[in-house]
Amino acid sequence: MSLVVSRDFVLAYTQARRPTLVPEFTVRTAADVVALWEAIQREHDTAGQAGCRQAAQVSNPPFWAAAWPGGQALARYVLDHPESVAFRTVLDLGSGSGLVALAAARAGASSVMASDVDPYCPAAIAVNAAANDVTGIQVVGNVLDGDDVPDIEVILAGDVCYDRAMTERVLPFLHAAARRGCDVLLGDPDRAYLPRTGLEFVAAYDVPEVDAPTSRRTTVWRVRAARPMSSARPAGLNPDRSPTGGTPCAAPCSPS
Ligand SMILES: C[S@@+](CC[C@H](N)C(=O)[O-])C[C@H]1O[C@@H](n2cnc3c(N)ncnc32)[C@H](O)[C@@H]1O
Repeated sequence: MSLVVSRDFVLAYTQARRPTLVPEFTVRTAADVVALWEAIQREHDTAGQAGCRQAAQVSNPPFWAAAWPGGQALARYVLDHPESVAFRTVLDLGSGSGLVALAAARAGASSVMASDVDPYCPAAIAVNAAANDVTGIQVVGNVLDGDDVPDIEVILAGDVCYDRAMTERVLPFLHAAARRGCDVLLGDPDRAYLPRTGLEFVAAYDVPEVDAPTSRRTTVWRVRAARPMSSARPAGLNPDRSPTGGTPCAAPCSPS
């Protein structure tokens, strides 16, 4: 028995909001993440009692109920540079709300696959796609442990270096894809686990915070074929990455 999440659950605990950097879209976000997480835990308890082994595991925080800065920057880049995905097969890795997948579809990708391990993502992505009149996104689970990702020409990975374990898992996959000739773009707000090597600057944006007057400097990197020596670095030290010659910062957009 697997956990099936209804679209009504997503609608009940989230609100439609325009990501500050990507106001073309609305995505369902949680104003009260604690209430949402508690509701998820209740669903898991109920499903676990009904014999769902997947639900018996401790659930992840509802990452899908936010538009993370890395994903916003990637989505902005793809919309402003449709040639990066147009007529190409695209994988949105760590899709969360599906914002990056929506942008790829809108920019003319020939197909879009959204991968996320969170069982709430298929429902969240379906709701967000419908709200934005986007069709055809194929939602899949984990693809990191397979030998290959078939027929993918572009991988977009928004904010996937959010902790050490995920970073150490995802980076070898991304570098291997780059070695196979895949164009791999990573959106990241200078998180501590982002490696200091193996990345090429593409563009940078200031992503306004939702509830604060500040913004997060967020960069779109191209993942090189060569694998970095280490995935960990002290925050703020990026000696080999000079953000020159890239796209200038986008003007901040206001939330609706
Ligand atoms: C910080 S969120 C970013 C979501 C989205 N890309 C964005 O920028 O708004 C990271 C996402 O990676 C997902 N994730 C974790 N492990 C994964 C895996 N092995 N394969 C695919 N997604 C994974 C999490 O469930 C989460 O939704």
